[in-house]
Amino acid sequence: MKRRLLQYLSCPSCEKELSLGKVAATEDAEIIEGELQCVSCQATFPILRGIPRFAGLDRLQEEKAATASSFGWQWQHFTQQDDRYEEQFLGWIAPVKPEFFRDKIVLEGGCGKGRHTQLAANWGAREVIGVDLSDAVETAFASTRSLENAHIVQADIYRLPFRRVFDYAFSVGVLHHLPDPRGGFLSVAGKVKPGGHISAWVYGAENNEWITRWVSPVREKLTSSLNRRLLLHLSRVPTAIVYVATKLVYGPLNRSSSGSQLAQHLFYNDYLKSIAGFGWREQHTIVFDHLVAPTSFYISRDQFEEWWRELGASDVVIGWHNKNSWRGFGRV
Ligand SMILES: C[S@@+](CC[C@H](N)C(=O)[O-])C[C@H]1O[C@@H](n2cnc3c(N)ncnc32)[C@H](O)[C@@H]1O
Ligand SMILES: [Zn+2]
Repeated sequence: MKRRLLQYLSCPSCEKELSLGKVAATEDAEIIEGELQCVSCQATFPILRGIPRFAGLDRLQEEKAATASSFGWQWQHFTQQDDRYEEQFLGWIAPVKPEFFRDKIVLEGGCGKGRHTQLAANWGAREVIGVDLSDAVETAFASTRSLENAHIVQADIYRLPFRRVFDYAFSVGVLHHLPDPRGGFLSVAGKVKPGGHISAWVYGAENNEWITRWVSPVREKLTSSLNRRLLLHLSRVPTAIVYVATKLVYGPLNRSSSGSQLAQHLFYNDYLKSIAGFGWREQHTIVFDHLVAPTSFYISRDQFEEWWRELGASDVVIGWHNKNSWRGFGRV
């Protein structure tokens, strides 16, 4: 933990300031082992392996703990980086562009392995804080610790240990995995300063009926509770189907001027086209990600619009992404 993170933190219980208690180990600019203490209610929070910990994983409600366990495993296994993350991320947060991050204090709700925290830091954010509930923070910390404007915190999105200081917050691929997605969205938005902005990207209900009808029951009843190594191996089968289809059909057809018209009639073309450039490992991550999550909601446009209305956001831009998901951007 870099010392200057302290100015943004607040006690998740009473919202008062935190102070740095004992520091047992440091490495370069990072506090590796130590303790944070609330100046008011005296609650203490450990800093372990460089990360301030607010989550109390042993005290979490069962559904959240299962989600954290699944993704913690996933992001400690699939730690690879990919040049295409930048383009993919910009698709999820459009119309936001890299320049938008410059000099802003940014919060990422559910940072996973930290790939977007890294991009935000490299795009010139004054500070970017990536928060995740799961052990994914170990990977996120390792991949961002050399960036002086990047910070990783382990916390629950519903109990964020921050003051209301952020110019911009984003959450991609996270809210639909929460027990109450709307509540998670409002919690992240609650840390954005008035006049600041928020982006969110969620799975859509529309055009995903085949998933909710055929895949979700298998995920809920079987794959999300399988031994992770076994799921890793089993998920190679659907990955092989996606890989062959995207490399031999969707990719080539969409790239050719004569084939792209035809490709538009293919099943799930917009999405499969968007992942056709990824190699085997990234496609395996995507398939595994869909099968490992105990909780996944598929959110309709009406529901998503309602979140933004409830927030009282202005200048809201909602977009249909890859014809299977919703992205939104607005002013808080
Ligand atoms: C599909 S991953 C997406 C990670 C990252 N946004 C990305 O796109 O690479 C979902 C992430 O949400 C995190 N998550 C789930 N429930 C959470 C909660 N209650 N609070 C914070 N993070 C949570 C998981 O641990 C996981 O890393
Ligand atoms: Zn307190």
